[in-house]
Amino acid sequence: MDLPKHFVIRESSHRVLNPIESAQLATLGAALRLPAGGTLLDLACGKGELLCTWAREHGITGTGVDISTAFLADARARAADLGVADRVTFLHGDAGAYVAAEPADVVACIGATWIGGDTPGTVRLMESSLKLGGMLLVGDVYWRADPPPEAVEALFGADCLSLPGQVERFHELGYDVVELVAADERGWDRYAAASWLSMRRWLDANPDDELAPEIRSELTRSQLQHVRWQRPYLGWGVFALLRR
Ligand SMILES: C[S@@+](CC[C@H](N)C(=O)[O-])C[C@H]1O[C@@H](n2cnc3c(N)ncnc32)[C@H](O)[C@@H]1O
Repeated sequence: MDLPKHFVIRESSHRVLNPIESAQLATLGAALRLPAGGTLLDLACGKGELLCTWAREHGITGTGVDISTAFLADARARAADLGVADRVTFLHGDAGAYVAAEPADVVACIGATWIGGDTPGTVRLMESSLKLGGMLLVGDVYWRADPPPEAVEALFGADCLSLPGQVERFHELGYDVVELVAADERGWDRYAAASWLSMRRWLDANPDDELAPEIRSELTRSQLQHVRWQRPYLGWGVFALLRR
């Protein structure tokens, strides 16, 4: 099991594989007042930036699970670079089937709320690895403005709520939202536009690769999807949740 190669090409230059910027990730880590020595499980951890930087800044220890062997290799290299390799562990596997042997103080799933089927299912999955009284961190999309049908079709749509709708859903699931860091258009540009240059450079270097037609069409599609629909209509945030 591995992530298809076109994702790895598209996100080759990213550290955070979501539309929040590194500074916002740091803001969130500081805002949560994480206790040194606390434990964090990051489901679908990508390149491990959250775990590695928070281990360095806040003294947490943790585990990340992801299906991408390429992203996990980057995560391990980042942990070594930041001097936290003894505090973080990265595991290859399906995070949708992962339950920690030791429940964690914080369980995160940032931008992969499909791993438990949908957002409520992912919250229930995360709970199975959470200590009593622990905190969930859920990174998820919402509509910033009422989308035209074309935007719903072009993006994912079905399970996407407004921001108040997201907060109401967390209430219905039994949680208070106790922190929120939201992406803005600048963050969306960093996430989307950085992938365009990565794809373009890869195409220039690999014109005859069997993936070249797919990457060519994704590069064209993604520029227009971003400026037409993603940038004006789609919000994204990390919600910190404590059980009521
Ligand atoms: C949008 S990225 C977010 C990565 C990371 N949380 C971050 O914020 O940088 C989604 C991640 O989910 C991973 N992924 C997708 N399905 C998965 C699964 N079933 N189990 C584990 N990881 C998965 C991908 O490999 C990718 O790293």
